[in-house]
Order: sequence, then C-alpha cells, then structure tokens
Amino acid sequence: MNWDIYRKLLSYVRPYKGRLFVSVIASIGVAGSDAAAAKLVQPFIDWIVVEARADLLSYVPFIVIGLASFKGISRYVQEYFIRTAGQLVMFDLRNEVFGHTLALSMRYFSRVSSGTVMSRILNDITIMQASVAEVLVGLLKEVLTLVSLTVVAFYADWKMALMAFVVLPLTAWPASAIGKRIKSYSKKGQTAMGELTAALEQSMSGIKVIKAFGTEQKEYDKFEAENRSFYSFFRKVIKYDAASSPVMEILLSLGGAAVIWYGLHRVFEGKMTQGELFSILAAVMFMYTPAKKLSKLYNRIQQAIGAAERVFELRAEPVEIHDTSDAVAMPRVRGEIVFDRVGFSYGDEQVLEDFSFTAAPGEVVALVGASGAGKSTVAGLLNRFYDVSEGSVRVDGTDIREVTLDSLRANLALVDQETFLFNESVRNNVLYGCPEAEDSKLNDAIDQAYAREFIEQLPQGVETGIGNRGVRLSGGQRQRICIARAILRDAPILILDEATSALDTESEAMVQKALQNLMHNRTTLVIAHRLSTVMHADKILVLDKGKIVEQGRHDQLVAQDGLYRRLYTMQFQNGNEE
Ligand SMILES: Nc1ncnc2c1ncn2[C@@H]1O[C@H](COP(=O)(O)OP(=O)(O)OP(=O)(O)O)[C@@H](O)[C@H]1O
Ligand SMILES: [Mg+2]
Repeated sequence: MNWDIYRKLLSYVRPYKGRLFVSVIASIGVAGSDAAAAKLVQPFIDWIVVEARADLLSYVPFIVIGLASFKGISRYVQEYFIRTAGQLVMFDLRNEVFGHTLALSMRYFSRVSSGTVMSRILNDITIMQASVAEVLVGLLKEVLTLVSLTVVAFYADWKMALMAFVVLPLTAWPASAIGKRIKSYSKKGQTAMGELTAALEQSMSGIKVIKAFGTEQKEYDKFEAENRSFYSFFRKVIKYDAASSPVMEILLSLGGAAVIWYGLHRVFEGKMTQGELFSILAAVMFMYTPAKKLSKLYNRIQQAIGAAERVFELRAEPVEIHDTSDAVAMPRVRGEIVFDRVGFSYGDEQVLEDFSFTAAPGEVVALVGASGAGKSTVAGLLNRFYDVSEGSVRVDGTDIREVTLDSLRANLALVDQETFLFNESVRNNVLYGCPEAEDSKLNDAIDQAYAREFIEQLPQGVETGIGNRGVRLSGGQRQRICIARAILRDAPILILDEATSALDTESEAMVQKALQNLMHNRTTLVIAHRLSTVMHADKILVLDKGKIVEQGRHDQLVAQDGLYRRLYTMQFQNGNEE
C-alpha cells in the first residue's frame, strides 16, 4: 500500500505534534458537542414536548446557545492548529525540496524541464498541503463524531440503530471505486500541468524569437493543445469528484427512509419513546456531514498521495555530484590545471576523448575550435558541473573529485557563454557570489570590466534594477556585468567562455587589456571564436570533435599548416581582424 508515503509524510508532521495534540483535544470537543446535541433531543421530546414540563423550558435556550458556542470554539481551535501545522509541514517541504533541487547535477536539469520542477514544488506541494491538513483534521474529527453519534444511537435503541447502520457501509464501496479513478486522473492531470507550465515558461523566455519569427499563432496553438489536454484530464477528475456526493446522498436517503419507517413502527408498538426515535434520527442526520466529508477525504487522500509520490520522487532524486565522505577543503590554489586523459560524454556520444593538457599557474590557456567541438564542456568539467567518465581533472595536483565542491568553486570564477543576470539591481548582480565585498572593490571591478560608463548612464546608476534576464541592457553590457562579477570574485582560476563575444572590437580591446592585468597572477582559461582574443595566450589548444589537434603559441600555430592557420587566414580575409 502507500504506507511508505504516509510514513514519510508523518516524519514531516512530527515536529508539530504539539499543535496536533491541541487539535486532537479540540476535535473531541467538536465530536462531543454533536453527540450531546443528538442525545439531548430525547429528553427534549419526551419531557418538554410530550410531557409538557414547563419548569424545564427556560433551560432550553441556554443549552442550545451553550452547546453551539462550545462547538464553535472547539472547532476554531482545532482548525487553527491543524491547518497551521499543515502549512508548516509544507513550508518545510518546499524549502527542503528546493534546497535539494539546487544540489542536483546539471545532468538532471538537462534531462528534466524547469516547468516540471516548478510544478512539483508549487502545484504538487500545494495539493499535499490542502490534503495533509484536511486529512489530519478531517479523519480524526469525522471519525470521532461518527463514533460518538453511533454510541448515542445504540444507547437509545440498539435494534433500530443496528438497522440504520447496515446501510452506511454500503456507501464505502462506490466511494472507493470513485477514489481510485480520481487518483489515476489526478496524476495525469499533474503531468499535464507540468507540460503547461513548461510551455508557458518557454514562450516567455523565447518571446523575442517568437515575435521575430512571427510564430505567435503556432505558440498559441501549442499552448492551446496543452491547455486542452489539461482541461480534459481535469474534466475526468471533476466527473468522479462531483459524482461522489450525489451517490452518497442517494445511498443515505435509502438508509434514512428505512430508519424512519422501521422507527415509527417501533414507536407505534410501544418499544421506544418518541424522544428516542428523534434522538436516533438526529444522530443519523448529524452523521450525514461527517460521512460525506469522509468520502471526500478519501478522494483527497488519493490526490495527496499522487502528489506526494511525485514530490518525494524529486526529493529522492540522487545528487550525482556531491562531496565524498572524505572530501577535504581545497585551500586557495596556485592555479595549476591538469586534464589527464579525460574522456566524457553527456549521453551516448563521446564529447571529449583522451583529452590532456596542462596549464601552469598564471598561464593563459586558450581553447579554440568549431562550434560543438567541446570547449564549454571543458569549462564545465573544471567546474565539476559534470564528472569525467575517464581520466581525471587535477588542480594543484589534487583530483577535483576529492575536494569539497564549495572549496573547489571558491577557487574558480566563471564568465559563462550564456550571460545570466538576476532580476535585481546592477550592484547586486556584480556582488553576486561575494555579497560582502566593499564598495571600493565593487567600483574597481566595474572599472576593470569597462562597465563604468554605461552603468553611470542608467537612471539610478548601480542601483538600477535589471529586468528579467537583463533585457534592459545590451548583450555587451550584460557581458561586462558578468565580467565584473567574475573579477570581484578574485579567484585564482578564471574561466572566460566567450566572455567578450558580444563586445565591439574597441570595447573588447579595452576589456581585453583590463583582463590582461587581471590574468597577471591567475590561471586563465579563455574560450573564444575570435582569434584576436586569444592571440596573446601562452598556449592555444585547437579542438576538433573533442580532441586536441594542435597546440602551441599563436606564431607557432600560424607557422604550421593546420586548422588554426586556416581559421586565422579566414578571419583575416574577411577584412577585419576579428
Ligand atoms: N547538456 C548537454 N547535454 C547533451 N549534450 C550536450 C550538452 N551540452 C553540450 N552537448 C554536446 O556536446 C558537444 C560539445 O558541446 P560544447 O558546448 O562543449 O561545445 P562548444 O565547443 O562550447 O561549442 P560553442 O563554440 O558553440 O560554444 C556538442 O556536440 C553538444 O551537442
Ligand atoms: Mg561553448
């Protein structure tokens, strides 16, 4: 069964058992008030209505108001504590799952769409939240109420009560059948929701391309189709969910009819007082609400389990790249990088093969080669976004798999090919990664990245907010902010993956000069298509399909009649030195 899921859920509830306890006590109050109300019907009918005892009359309003108030307060206490407990459980769960997601490897993110992950953390946990609270409260309160009402009914006249309760279990069967259906559809519905979120996310991030290529209609149709399949799944959920109440109602009316018919007979035969009959009827009527809620609860449990399964599945996703148990912190390194016969593939296809090179501390090593040759992959492996499949990557002689990820990455500063800026101020974007840096350092970094001029022209200078993905800045401006961010990090190893590709020749020359200073006492890995960027490197590695085909200094490589020379002459013949 789903005990495993329940057990896991319970482990999250455990910290809030105090709230649970209070709520349980209050539930007893709620159930007790219902039972007392049903029980009091009997003296009311027998003594006041039938025997007309005027002396008891003045108690009636007090009892009615008193009972209602007691029940109201009990219910409030019970709901407040159980629902806050439910929210707190989800609060913890959302944090935990998000934290876990952050730790997952890049491989996971290239496999699973961000829409799916979002749907898990937002939608699924919300479904669970509704359900954990409802289940915990509901189950307890409704069961208690049913039990105490049953006791009242049996106490009044067991034969008649027995007769009434024969009908009730019959409702369990259709309710469970409906519940099963709902579970399977809700699961599919959530998948559809994930796809919808993914489609939406993609259109939003690709909005420029959509407009430029005039594919609004196509995107609309795609979205409409996803939306439709989402609807059609939910229509089925609604179909069964909506059926569960009427089915229960009809079944309960059968019970009611039988009870009234049989009960009246017993009163006419003198085996039961009028008061007892009405007390039992009241008990059965009071049972209608909890029984109905229980049947809905069953469906909710099914939905919650579907959602919980998906959430725990993400929670259980193994963290591929993690610190080994004996990982040590890597101190600030001198910056020697060794790729030793590295082999790597993302999937089936080998991306790097027998890939070896050495960068001495302080050296500038450039990677050039056609698109898809594997340059960014090399940068990714050094960052340990992925682990090598063969060979090893060593920094200062230590295999990077033997040190903690944090300490490794503290030694690296990356300017990635895909510039990414957070939706925050320029200042916070530059400070990202070292938030405590002083203003003087921040300003130096901005100067060195040649970003001062345009930043000062922004409406609020460094405090200007950057729109989603930095849309308010040009490509080159964005790159310069990313460079400033990396400069500020002041790490011994600098990785520049097409870091200056969006800059004009003049700014590039300037940034290049600034980087030159920066590269002074740090090891730098430069990746660039423009050979003018890499001409002054200490060592140039020419990559072709994941292999180093040539290496050496610029003049050496030009002297050889190889790939580098061909690339170089081509870039020159085009009339510019880019
Ligand atoms: N996340 C990924 N999953 C699967 N394959 C990938 C992934 N990233 C890159 N590849 C593949 O690995 C190969 C090398 O990619 P890489 O990004 O290293 O190329 P590159 O030399 O940086 O190219 P460019 O100059 O265009 O940036 C390519 O064939 C690419 O299709
Ligand atoms: Mg690349």
